[in-house]
Amino acid sequence: MSQTTNIRIFDTTLRDGEQSPGASMNIEEKLRIAHQLEKMNVDVMEAGFPIASDGDFEAVKRIAQVIKGPQIAGLCRANDKDIDRAWEALKYAGERGRIHTFIATSDIHMKFKLKMSEDQVVEAAVKAVRRAANYTPNVEFSAEDAVRTRLPFLARVVEAVIAAGATTVNIPDTVGYTIPTEYFNIIRYLKENVPNVEKAILSVHCHNDLGLAVANSLAAVQAGAGQVECTINGIGERAGNCSLEEVVMALRTRHDILPFSTNIKTEHIYAASRLLSTITGIVVQPNKAIVGANAFAHEAGIHQHGVMMDKSTYEIMTPESIGLNQNKLVLGKHSGRHAFNQRISDLGYELGKEDLEKAFVRFKTLADQKKEIFDEDLDVIVADEIIRV
Ligand code: KIV
Ligand code: ZN
Repeated sequence: MSQTTNIRIFDTTLRDGEQSPGASMNIEEKLRIAHQLEKMNVDVMEAGFPIASDGDFEAVKRIAQVIKGPQIAGLCRANDKDIDRAWEALKYAGERGRIHTFIATSDIHMKFKLKMSEDQVVEAAVKAVRRAANYTPNVEFSAEDAVRTRLPFLARVVEAVIAAGATTVNIPDTVGYTIPTEYFNIIRYLKENVPNVEKAILSVHCHNDLGLAVANSLAAVQAGAGQVECTINGIGERAGNCSLEEVVMALRTRHDILPFSTNIKTEHIYAASRLLSTITGIVVQPNKAIVGANAFAHEAGIHQHGVMMDKSTYEIMTPESIGLNQNKLVLGKHSGRHAFNQRISDLGYELGKEDLEKAFVRFKTLADQKKEIFDEDLDVIVADEIIRV
């Protein structure tokens, strides 16, 4: 029997995702996303960059206080002040708190941004990891712009930070430049050439500038990476990050040739996508894989006929597997509280008793005026009542 390797899902919607233009969120909004990520059972959620602002610090602290399942990560540059501030916020998560420190390792970044030599970068990385490890054994190090780093130097950095105490080492494609075969070879090279590499989990973090973030992440997993960093709806800097729903559903759907599993409860994916989109106002393109409005729609006659005969003709995964169509009840004026509450929850909303009652009254009023109430109507109805955590 073939062995299945579990891949950790590290969600960075609240940190790298929030760096998308127009995606900044307040603390309450971040908490709502954090609860949904918890429901989805991500292994790690990166809650923010505590030194970046007081708001981000408070958000990381609050998430560390209230979220109970996943590990909570906070980003910090490789300097004492950043690391201390990160732990100040993360300490509330106890042993689930993860300090994520980074420094760039590519020639371009070292020369133009850091103005540091290779030796200085290694020294700063090691010092940062040691300082973080004094707070917690759960330390992640990222070699920013790893893909454009000379491989022997990248291997030297990875070896040094593992020796200093990093338990996860991330190899980011910061500028979305790599292609699957190249990224596979980088991860394989590190796996084969770095002494003690097995003491840490190698992580991958792909940006989507060439539309290859998911493909690159899958290639890296095949080469031995144990953690994938990603965001809901693929939001993130520039063209975004690897999309959580795409990478998770690819691993699930092609388990026949990808012997990997994740801990994600995929039936919460659709609600997560909608919640994020509602909060940020960033719409999901209709043809977006997995969560786009057309992802499970069949328009062509031949396709419709095929699907009516047997869904597997044109569907490679079921809509139910991402939490779509689970509740087939049509909402209208005859619908009661139970159906209404259920749909609200399926859509990813968490309303308090009073808000739920107010929303229900508004729903009934609207239902008197139109035949069917759609999800979009519910979005509008609850828009003023939600924000509760
Ligand atoms: O893209 C990147 O390199 C990052 C690191 C800070 C992990 O976001
Ligand atoms: Zn990034």
